[in-house]
Amino acid sequence: MNRGFVLKGDICDSRAGGALNTVQDGYVVCVDGISQGVFHELPEAFTHLPLIDCSHHMIVPGLVDLHTHAPQYAYRALGMDLELLDWLNTYTFPEETRYGDLAYALAQYERIAQDLRRGPNTRCVLFGTVHLPATELLMELMEKTGLITLVGKVNMDRNAPDTLAEKDAQQSLSNTRLWLEHCKGRFTRTGPILSPRFIPSCSDQLMEGLAELQEQEGLPLQSHLSENPKECSWVGELCPASGSYTQAYARFGMIAPGRRTVMAHCVWCKPEEIQLLKESGTFVAHCPQSNANLASGIAPLRTYLREGLSVGLGSDIAGGAHSSIFRAMSDAIQFSKLRWRLTDDSLAPLTVAEAFYLGTRGGGAFFGKVGSFEEGYEMDALVIDDSDLTTPCVRSLEDRLSRIIYLSDERQILHKFVRGERLF
Ligand code: GUN
Ligand code: FE
Repeated sequence: MNRGFVLKGDICDSRAGGALNTVQDGYVVCVDGISQGVFHELPEAFTHLPLIDCSHHMIVPGLVDLHTHAPQYAYRALGMDLELLDWLNTYTFPEETRYGDLAYALAQYERIAQDLRRGPNTRCVLFGTVHLPATELLMELMEKTGLITLVGKVNMDRNAPDTLAEKDAQQSLSNTRLWLEHCKGRFTRTGPILSPRFIPSCSDQLMEGLAELQEQEGLPLQSHLSENPKECSWVGELCPASGSYTQAYARFGMIAPGRRTVMAHCVWCKPEEIQLLKESGTFVAHCPQSNANLASGIAPLRTYLREGLSVGLGSDIAGGAHSSIFRAMSDAIQFSKLRWRLTDDSLAPLTVAEAFYLGTRGGGAFFGKVGSFEEGYEMDALVIDDSDLTTPCVRSLEDRLSRIIYLSDERQILHKFVRGERLF
């Protein structure tokens, strides 16, 4: 196979360390789904490839949503007067119970699939529900979108209504093994991710079993960590011997070097927890809009970047109402400014370039070499017609990128490529 093409246009991507790279009227070359780099002049070696002329349009890497919940799409923007635990009990658990009905699941999952295909995200890490048939259906629909996704069958065997919780650890684990069996060899773009909901939802026995599965099968794992003050206190009561919320996961081996784990939120982590996240290479999915909506707080992103943690952005539907990671970028910038002004003026707010990095290359690293056009990176790209967003005040490619981050929506996305395949 030697399928390749060249995109010509105005290019923005992030380099190692987060520096913004901009090339006006340049070229990105893709061969076999892999970027060959960004060029001012097209090298002779690539002049035989078909050229897709997107002159005057912006070309940026596809966006990465490191944390969201597909079954919560239908109740976005509802229950926004509640905090996390009341919101889970009042909205989330009753709604997720409905996914035991496959016809209901199909109707709702088709809507999120359609919207994700059209939107700017090219990679997503998703929670499903505890239900096997509905989660497999979600995976089939995600596969058809052309996006590359990791999808989780949720594990929960305590502190949830009987209609939703699994009977016990044994049943939850055997369901998970069966689901993994069903996934084998079935998809090319969609993979399973282990998904213990969070410490309050999972017994020790269940966590031990999942950690063992993670190690044996080399599987990725996602969960929630240190999101909301009341939740953190509850975890302290549930696990008095752990010493911290992060340790409550680490004692099972889920937060440890060599594990591929992403933890959503990390709003209230203490210095020793931050060190543990760093040393273990655990990814943090920063979900600023959800953290505001559920009155959880503002994560110390400047500290995480300074410490060199692996960080990306998450929409956390339905804590967040918007699935676009462009929106998560502008939210991350704005909330970092409020944190700086109100909480700690030694922690500088995020720049546009940093937020762009987090939503592309930062989160992309969870998938491998993803989120940049640097040579060797998988070619996820958006071609954006930002002519309607351009005014006499816009002076540079960085200005255009800022307008796109704050103001664009899916109507401006002309073309979308995932690992070199054109979706539209
Ligand atoms: N913690 C446990 N479950 C959830 C969830 O569904 N959403 C959010 N935001 N936090 C959680
Ligand atoms: Fe979440």
